[in-house]
Parts: sequence; C-alpha cells; structure tokens
Amino acid sequence: MEPKRYGITILGSLLLFFCMAATCYGIVLFSSLSRTLEVTASFKQGQVLKAGVDKITVTWGLNQSLAAGTDSAYKTIKVKLCYSPVSQVDRAWRKTVDNLAKDKTCQFKIVSRPYDKWNQTFEWKVERDVPSGTYFIRAYAYNSDDIEVAYGQTTDAKKTTNLFDVQAITGRHASLDIASVCFSAFAVLSLLGFFIAEKRRAKLSEQK
Ligand SMILES: *[C@@H]1O[C@H](CO)[C@@H](O)[C@H](O)[C@H]1NC(C)=O
Ligand SMILES: *[C@@H]1O[C@H](CO)[C@@H](O)[C@H](O)[C@H]1NC(C)=O
Repeated sequence: MEPKRYGITILGSLLLFFCMAATCYGIVLFSSLSRTLEVTASFKQGQVLKAGVDKITVTWGLNQSLAAGTDSAYKTIKVKLCYSPVSQVDRAWRKTVDNLAKDKTCQFKIVSRPYDKWNQTFEWKVERDVPSGTYFIRAYAYNSDDIEVAYGQTTDAKKTTNLFDVQAITGRHASLDIASVCFSAFAVLSLLGFFIAEKRRAKLSEQK
C-alpha cells in the first residue's frame, strides 16, 4: 500500500473507533433508570398557566423510604418541563424515545442544581417560549460522568394523571411576523442586487 493510502486507512479506523466508543458510552435508556426521586409542584390537576406570567414552585428530593446509600452516585439534578402524551400526538419532534440522547419529551430546562439529599425547591416562571400544551415535570439525577442514573416526576408512569396546561403568549406572533417580513424583504433585495450586478457584468463583457 502507498504510504498516503495507508495513512488514510488508519485515520478512518481511528475515526470509526471513536464514533463507536462515543455512541456506546452515550446510550442511556430511560427504562433502565429507577424512580427514586419524589417531585411535586404547586399546580392543581388541569390548571392552566400563562407562559411568561405564571410561576410554579417545584420541590424535589430523595424518596425517604429508600435504603441509605441509594443516592451515593448522584451529583447533579436537572429539572425539566416535559410534554404529556396528548401534546405529542402527530408531532415527531416531541416524540418519546427510550434512548435518552434521542428523547424529545423534556425539552425545557427548569433548573440544574448540585444534588442534595434533602428536599430542594425552586420557583420557576413559565418561560415565554413554552408553546401551548399539556405538561408534567421530571427531574433527572446525574452521576459524576454527567450520565442519567435516576429520575422522578410529578405524574404517574403512564403520564396521564396530575398534568397541567400552559397557554402560550399571545402577541408573540405579531413580532415574529414582522421579523419574517423584514427578513424576506432583505432576501428579495439581495437577490435583486445580485441580478443587477450579474447583468452589468454580462453587458461589460459583451462590450469588450
Ligand atoms: C419533602 O420531605 C418530606 C419529609 O421531610 C417528604 O414527606 C416529602 O414527600 C418531600 N417532598 C418531596 C417533593 O420530595
Ligand atoms: C417511595 O418508595 C417506596 C418504596 O420503594 C414506594 O413504595 C413509594 O411508592 C415511593 N413513593 C413515591 C412517592 O414514589
């Protein structure tokens, strides 16, 4: 084999190896996590919260009836807002996938905190970019390698009870529309400028 080719083959193998190592290492299945955290929040079943206005208080902690040491590997907690099944229907971009790297259930971060075995609370204002829908709250416990090791959530395993609704901001569309109109106008003008420049150049080369 020529040296150059040989080099490329080695490089290719190395790349393949790292890619494989990365994916193997990265796969964490939700079904493999144990539910050891208790998560509650200050909403009533079916309550409607206004995005950008209303606040909820989230409380999380270790289920106190579990054996001591259950949480020995827990380093951080990330609390997230998650779509309930009714808000996932026909929306592939919100789909639940067991492989957590591909899971789209919990797309909104509420807070991230170092783990503490005692209850922690956080007051969260529903962010302005949260779309209308039905939600629950889930907390993941991560180990020191930043890998999910346990979870807890405000709803049951089937995600059908104890849910709340978010009503998206109205008036947000107006500003979005204005932005997109400006952007389109800019695009059309640039295109026009490009054509004029091109025509001029064609004319100039004809005259030569
Ligand atoms: C908070 O702690 C108490 C016991 O101290 C427990 O009964 C309660 O369930 C905990 N709440 C949460 C949300 O973990
Ligand atoms: C806490 O753990 C016990 C024992 O595993 C379990 O029976 C109970 O349902 C758990 N509590 C919550 C709120 O998850």
